[in-house]
Amino acid sequence: MNQRIRKAVFPVAGLGTRFLPATKTVPKEMLPIIDRPLIQYAVDEAVEAGCDTLVFVTNRYKHAVADYFDKAYELEQKLEQSGKHEQLELIRNVLPRHVRAVFVTQAEALGLGHAVLCAKPIVGDEPFAVLLPDDLIWNRGPGALKQMADAAEISGASMIAVQDVPHEQTGSYGIVATGNFSGREGRIDAIVEKPKPEVAPSNLAVVGRYVLDSRIFGLLESTQPGAGGEIQLTDAIAALLTEKPVHAYRFQGTRFDCGTHIGLIEATIRYALDHETLSDAARDMMQSALNELGVQELK
Ligand code: UTP
Repeated sequence: MNQRIRKAVFPVAGLGTRFLPATKTVPKEMLPIIDRPLIQYAVDEAVEAGCDTLVFVTNRYKHAVADYFDKAYELEQKLEQSGKHEQLELIRNVLPRHVRAVFVTQAEALGLGHAVLCAKPIVGDEPFAVLLPDDLIWNRGPGALKQMADAAEISGASMIAVQDVPHEQTGSYGIVATGNFSGREGRIDAIVEKPKPEVAPSNLAVVGRYVLDSRIFGLLESTQPGAGGEIQLTDAIAALLTEKPVHAYRFQGTRFDCGTHIGLIEATIRYALDHETLSDAARDMMQSALNELGVQELK
């Protein structure tokens, strides 16, 4: 599969129950870190990796995602008339001109694997990326997906992003067993969804970035509902690695789990502290909040 990936799939049809009541009307992927929604960070990462076709798997409640990537004629006109050129550029550049967005519907939230399968008619028979926007990955250098796409082009293997997690947390992740790593890559021997720490084969947890061989679609079609009654992507990957090489990729960067409250707060703080114009004010504000609460220093 030594081919450059061109297509990226964004499964955004989940219910986002952990952020209720906000997610009653605002999709989780539209929650902002500073001034950009999570989905924008993931889209930028995919475009940087060379993708020009973005497939959003949504549901009927998620018009906001499609609206966000649509052209906003009235708003553009108003900004133009009032000479707000900087803001005009911002909204015009949510998607670069050479990139097309395609929306497919997942009628029922039957799981991540099922959501990926919904993208099959658009992706067809070529390797592709999957990005879960609630996993936000911050890196000063190339984004995580670009790192993986470059590696996949060389090795020809499917790539799954991984990171080490504390042993007691294995039950919250897909966990992989690998042979030796060569650089950032190691061939995966086994993958299990959310194993209890006593049976987890390692501490290497799957993070929401994948470069997959299109064979995964055929395997998803025959995947039975697994953990939680959902069609699990992990189960289809377990089948894929009996047929084709699948590598774990230890990306460079910091991952924030923005599907959880604390992860979203952590990401907001990190981006604020690293922000061109906001960092000083953010640091002062944090310091005075800590002083006010009587916290002397952070442990
Ligand atoms: P999560 O389990 O993290 O997402 O799924 P969720 O269901 O939206 O959130 P909670 O747990 O209820 O708070 C991981 C990713 O898979 C997508 C989600 O949108 C998210 O990006 N997904 C999940 C689908 O697109 N369809 C599904 O049926 C399930």
